[in-house]
Amino acid sequence: MKNFLTVLTAILLFGLIACEGPAGPAGKDGKDGTNGINGTNGANGLSVDFKGDLATAPASPVLNWVYHNTTDKKVYIYNGTAWVVMTLDGSNGTNGTNGTNGTNGANGLRVFITYNDNSLSSQPSTPTGIGTANGWHTDPTAAAAWMSQKVAADSAAGTWGVPISIKGKDAGFVYFDGFKTDLKCATCHTPDTDTLYHKSAVSYQWAASKHAIGGTSFENSTTCAVCHTTEGFVQSQTGKTITTAYNSTPVGCFACHSPHINGDFALRTTAPATILSNLAGVADYTFNYGKGNLCAQCHKPRSQSNKLDPSKSTVANDTIKITSGRWYSHYGVQTQMLMGKGGYEWTNQTNTVANSYHTDAPGVKSDGCTICHMPNARGDYDGGHSMKLSSDEGQNLNGCKTSGCHSSITTLDYKGAMTTTHNNLDTLKVLLAKAGWLDTLTMQAKASSGSPLIITPSNRAGALWNFFLVEHDLSSGVHNTAYANALLLNSIAKMKGTF
Ligand code: HEC
Ligand code: HEC
Ligand code: HEC
Ligand code: HEC
Ligand code: HEC
Repeated sequence: MKNFLTVLTAILLFGLIACEGPAGPAGKDGKDGTNGINGTNGANGLSVDFKGDLATAPASPVLNWVYHNTTDKKVYIYNGTAWVVMTLDGSNGTNGTNGTNGTNGANGLRVFITYNDNSLSSQPSTPTGIGTANGWHTDPTAAAAWMSQKVAADSAAGTWGVPISIKGKDAGFVYFDGFKTDLKCATCHTPDTDTLYHKSAVSYQWAASKHAIGGTSFENSTTCAVCHTTEGFVQSQTGKTITTAYNSTPVGCFACHSPHINGDFALRTTAPATILSNLAGVADYTFNYGKGNLCAQCHKPRSQSNKLDPSKSTVANDTIKITSGRWYSHYGVQTQMLMGKGGYEWTNQTNTVANSYHTDAPGVKSDGCTICHMPNARGDYDGGHSMKLSSDEGQNLNGCKTSGCHSSITTLDYKGAMTTTHNNLDTLKVLLAKAGWLDTLTMQAKASSGSPLIITPSNRAGALWNFFLVEHDLSSGVHNTAYANALLLNSIAKMKGTF
């Protein structure tokens, strides 16, 4: 202030005393004034307005509205035109709970084993599927004799290996060439233990049969051995050439069975048999009676020459020349008789020829001769393998009483059929003897090559033929009563000249 006053005084003095001189140099800037007072506060700015947890953005938003979106877990702010994300990155959350287990992977491969109890001689078929069919089982029991294995993912998959035997041969068995493998001899060869086949008892029955004691096993030539010896019959049944059987065996066990090869008593054959008709112009026929087919292989006629011709049964001037006493079918004509075949018939005969019930009876059809001839045996007297129905003990009617047949029968001479047949045979025998055709001592035709029997008309010889047929059937008409007796009655009528 002193400076200011000094300057002001100078200026005034100068002006008064002197005229105005040239302008002096500019003085120094004065000091800054003091600050003005503060202005008033401005209006408050817009603050953030938090709207809370919401699933969706709130309606009609205003700048700086903020909400927490519970759906996408973000915080949004409205910037005046749109919602924009406002959050910072969050920190790591805590671990979630474990997820559920995934599905199992495919199994690895395993070994499967299955067993079979078949005997060593009988390799079972390769197992299939899970290996428990056709005798295969998965129990490793002591009885198991075979096993098979496979490597597969599961029991039903994969292919089983070829069965492998896992047992050594049993010490109780004997192994011989030609015998069935693992045949146990004592099954049949010890009466003590043979409760299955009773071979010993059966052998005694057979020993009482005419097969055993008939005494014709010496008929061992190549033409006769086939029916009269075991050796010849086995040769014929096994496709071999029939040779003369020296040291021949009668018709025995090994003819009808082959126990050492089969291991049981299955019949050697049940093939139907062709039966020769032995009548000119009459076709041969087939005998098909189940088990009886075995019997028919032998109990059938051999070929016979000088045959009668039924087509000439009313021809007056035809002649037959018989040159042998054995002018008949040899010998087992039982098959023919049962079927109602082999007899000589005349177109103008007086008695109708028909068959008895036996010919087509169901049991006879299936079992043939055995149903009557092999009933339950009575010791070694009759029945069973004796094949006899009469013995010192009487008659064995067990076969006749087969269910559905003659349940209350008391004699084989049922309804007098055997008596009737005998009587008719006797009547005819007398007529044939009178005619000089039959030798009643040999019961053969009165004929030989040197002294032949010539019969005219030939059809009359049918009476002799029928006599032999019924006589050699040996059943006295039981096999086919109606047929046998019609043949006999017609033959008697023929001999008497009735027709
Ligand atoms: C399925 C029954 C059966 C079996 C198993 C059996 N056999 Fe036989 N064997 C017979 C018959 C049947 C005869 C005849 C016996 C008779 O005539 O009485 C026989 C007879 C024999 C004969 C005597 C032969 C003859 O000509 O007289 C001998 C040896 C024999 N057998 C040995 C054996 C041997 C060894 C075994 C065991 C490997 C065996 N058998 C197993 C049924 C059998
Ligand atoms: C291999 C041949 C053959 C077979 C198979 C055969 N037989 Fe014989 N049979 C004969 C011979 C041969 C005679 C006679 C024996 C003798 O007189 O020496 C005979 C005799 C008989 C006899 C006794 C006959 C009489 O005069 O008393 C009867 C019964 C018999 N057989 C029934 C049968 C039966 C049933 C069958 C079937 C199960 C059968 N045979 C199977 C050959 C056989
Ligand atoms: C197709 C089989 C067969 C032929 C082949 C056969 N026979 Fe016979 N033979 C028998 C039968 C079956 C019997 C028993 C019939 C009966 O008793 O019922 C028998 C019985 C016999 C008899 C006893 C007759 C009687 O009155 O007791 C003699 C013997 C005989 N035959 C001899 C022979 C001669 C020999 C040959 C060979 C040339 C022969 N057989 C060929 C099946 C045959
Ligand atoms: C002429 C033929 C013949 C002769 C020989 C014969 N059999 Fe048989 N055998 C048969 C017939 C047929 C049967 C079946 C009988 C039936 O089913 O009714 C049979 C059945 C059997 C059976 C029963 C089979 C079973 O499984 O039940 C035995 C065991 C048997 N015979 C043993 C023997 C013995 C052992 C011999 C010798 C001693 C023998 N046979 C001789 C024909 C014969
Ligand atoms: C319906 C029952 C029956 C049938 C099936 C049967 N027979 Fe006979 N057979 C008899 C009677 C019953 C006798 C008389 C027996 C007697 O007098 O002791 C007999 C007798 C025989 C005889 C005389 C020997 C003997 O034992 O008296 C022979 C052989 C014979 N039959 C064989 C056969 C043959 C082979 C067959 C099959 C083709 C057969 N039989 C079918 C019932 C039958």
